[in-house]
Amino acid sequence: MEKIVIKGGNALHGTVGVSGMKNAALPVLFACILVKDKCVIENVPDVRDVAVTLEILSKMGAVVRRINKNSVCVDCTHLKGGTSDYELVRKIRASYYLLGAELGRFHRAHVGMPGGCNFGVRPIDQHIKGFEALGGRVDCGSGYVDVDATESLHGAGIYFDVVSVGATINIMLSAVLAEGTTTIDNAAKEPHIVDVANFLNTCGADIRGAGTDMIKINGVSSLHGCSYAIIPDMIEAGTFMACAAVAGGEIRVQNVIPKHMESITAKMREMNVEIEEGDDYLIVRSDGNLTPTSLKTLPYPGFPTDMHPQMSVLMCRATGISYVREGVFDNRFRYVEELARMGARIKVDGKTAIIEGGVHLTGAKVTSVDLRAGAALIIAALAATGKTEITEINRIERGYDNIVGKLKELGADIRKMYQPDDASMDIAN
Ligand code: UD1
Repeated sequence: MEKIVIKGGNALHGTVGVSGMKNAALPVLFACILVKDKCVIENVPDVRDVAVTLEILSKMGAVVRRINKNSVCVDCTHLKGGTSDYELVRKIRASYYLLGAELGRFHRAHVGMPGGCNFGVRPIDQHIKGFEALGGRVDCGSGYVDVDATESLHGAGIYFDVVSVGATINIMLSAVLAEGTTTIDNAAKEPHIVDVANFLNTCGADIRGAGTDMIKINGVSSLHGCSYAIIPDMIEAGTFMACAAVAGGEIRVQNVIPKHMESITAKMREMNVEIEEGDDYLIVRSDGNLTPTSLKTLPYPGFPTDMHPQMSVLMCRATGISYVREGVFDNRFRYVEELARMGARIKVDGKTAIIEGGVHLTGAKVTSVDLRAGAALIIAALAATGKTEITEINRIERGYDNIVGKLKELGADIRKMYQPDDASMDIAN
């Protein structure tokens, strides 16, 4: 059991390098299932969800070789479909990509129901609707999803009733090797959709329109191996920007695609954070004096739901009332109770958080209830008076590559420790 201990009050200075995007790396790694060849994937973040994904793949017969901390070679030539480990699959949300990838390669899939952060009900009906359109018969029961398209896996026109990142990628995975043409209408447009399409096209797929709401996939007979580098993580970048906004100081967030950051940059500027854009970096300056605002989370290019809890902390520090409306998930407010332990005054009314700003945050013992909730607690702790101890940090490490080490480099007083409390057992980063 480990915890993160932070003493607030230090301004941040220096440069922080952003890692590859978790939500792009995971589907790209699962997409390797479609390739009977070696794929070298670079700029892979060193996070727990990636480790679980690689373990799932290797237990299914893939040859997985770590080239270095952020590069991996995956060879799925001899992978066996339908053999994923139920317990590992339950650990991560992204394991739903096994459905699309197994269906694409073997024309059938047998996968445990996925896990992931608890934001209320997270149905997969749109994934299923897409698989059925491609010729799959879907059966859910006993904790598993089975899809059978052994008679015919064929292209189809699919219209999604809701914009879904997971369903859009899953249908791309199942359609690249299907016979004929598939069109996805009302597709998600997130940068990671484009990244997965670019990876598959580098392997010989024919996917057009990724990044718009209409994607066209012309099926091809096979894919070949390639080398591919994952795009930078816009949510990790946004999280460091939020850290500097509340702690004060000046940081350079290096290795970003500024275009992906537009909604976050615009909202922080509205809050009095100074942001300078370069080709592949952002310089963020703040004196900690923030102005209130309101935001609604939406699918890309709208404001990302994965930055919602972090922005709420900025709003706690802004003098006046701010509002956050969650427009993607049913319930993403579990962080509110933990922030309240640190003095935050947030009321939740349906899908809206009403945030009374200008409060004095104080260090406390808090729990990371999900990945981005944990990030929000770290941000709050940087601005708080006194010591904050965050437990359940495995949830933070699911998606942040060395966040403790990176913040320490920027001047934060932050440590990872074993529980129970014992300073002699400090962990290196
Ligand atoms: C992915 C990300 C998550 C991010 C989210 C939105 C991964 C592993 N997770 O989650 O970090 O917060 O995108 O950017 O990449 N929905 C349905 N039916 C479906 C699918 C989705 O009703 O079949 C609903 C969901 O309940 C939610 C909305 O659509 O309200 C968006 O979900 P979706 O984009 O699919 O999110 P995930 O893929 O689960």
